[in-house]
Amino acid sequence: MATKFFDHGRLERNVTLLGVLAFLVVTIGGIVEIAPLFWIDSTVEKVEGVRPYTPLELAGRNIYIREGCSGCHSQMIRPFRDETERYGHYSLAAESMYDHPFQWGSKRTGPDLARVGGRYSDEWHVQHMKDPRSVVPESIMPGYAFLADRELKAGDMAAHLTAMARVGVPYDKAAIAAANDDLKNQANADADTAALVKRYPKAQVRDFDGDPSRLTEMDALVAYLQMLGTLVDFEAAAPQEKAR
Ligand code: HEC
Repeated sequence: MATKFFDHGRLERNVTLLGVLAFLVVTIGGIVEIAPLFWIDSTVEKVEGVRPYTPLELAGRNIYIREGCSGCHSQMIRPFRDETERYGHYSLAAESMYDHPFQWGSKRTGPDLARVGGRYSDEWHVQHMKDPRSVVPESIMPGYAFLADRELKAGDMAAHLTAMARVGVPYDKAAIAAANDDLKNQANADADTAALVKRYPKAQVRDFDGDPSRLTEMDALVAYLQMLGTLVDFEAAAPQEKAR
């Protein structure tokens, strides 16, 4: 039987040839995946409304990461009808462009949280975090009551914002200088927060955990949850996408 040069039998018996060809295939696949990242600015379309996290939201996000919430919750709505009917408009790349690291997740023991902001009241979230079964009787989510007892020790937010700025999040000098004050002021309804809201449009300013006298980890986590998915106006964003 005449063997052609690219006969599979020959290929599988010749380690060097197999190695070289496998390398070639992986290289092409790798380039296709990696090359667009060099043009990331044009790969991820800017969408109006997306902004960096406020220091308090960022601190809440750190707690979300610390507690491993992404082990049960995704933050990525796929463009399928069953998902968009349940969770809202599918997630846009720009919505997580300032996430380091991403919280897309791949496990949904609980629902997707990409657009949970504004769906429930702060009181609901606090109660749900303390004792999930008191509001959703069939829930299998663990409770996180300790978050309400723990003072928020976020560390130096100016240093945190500086680190984020180094990986491309557009925090300017003023935002970094004000970071530690912004952290406290966002959860303080009496503070002067005009500058904060100007810096971070749509920032929600209030006490989040039901105890205005303290700044707790619960304040930060609820501030983060209540912001998720609230920044982009999809009525306006859809034409922005179609225009391309
Ligand atoms: C062991 C898996 C598990 C972990 C870990 C977990 N959750 Fe959940 N979560 C669930 C399940 C299941 C539900 C649906 C039932 C319910 O509402 O309690 C849920 C519901 C929720 C909801 C309501 C979502 C909606 O649209 O109704 C929020 C908000 C939430 N979780 C936040 C968190 C946060 C924040 C953390 C981390 C501190 C966390 N979860 C950790 C399983 C989990």
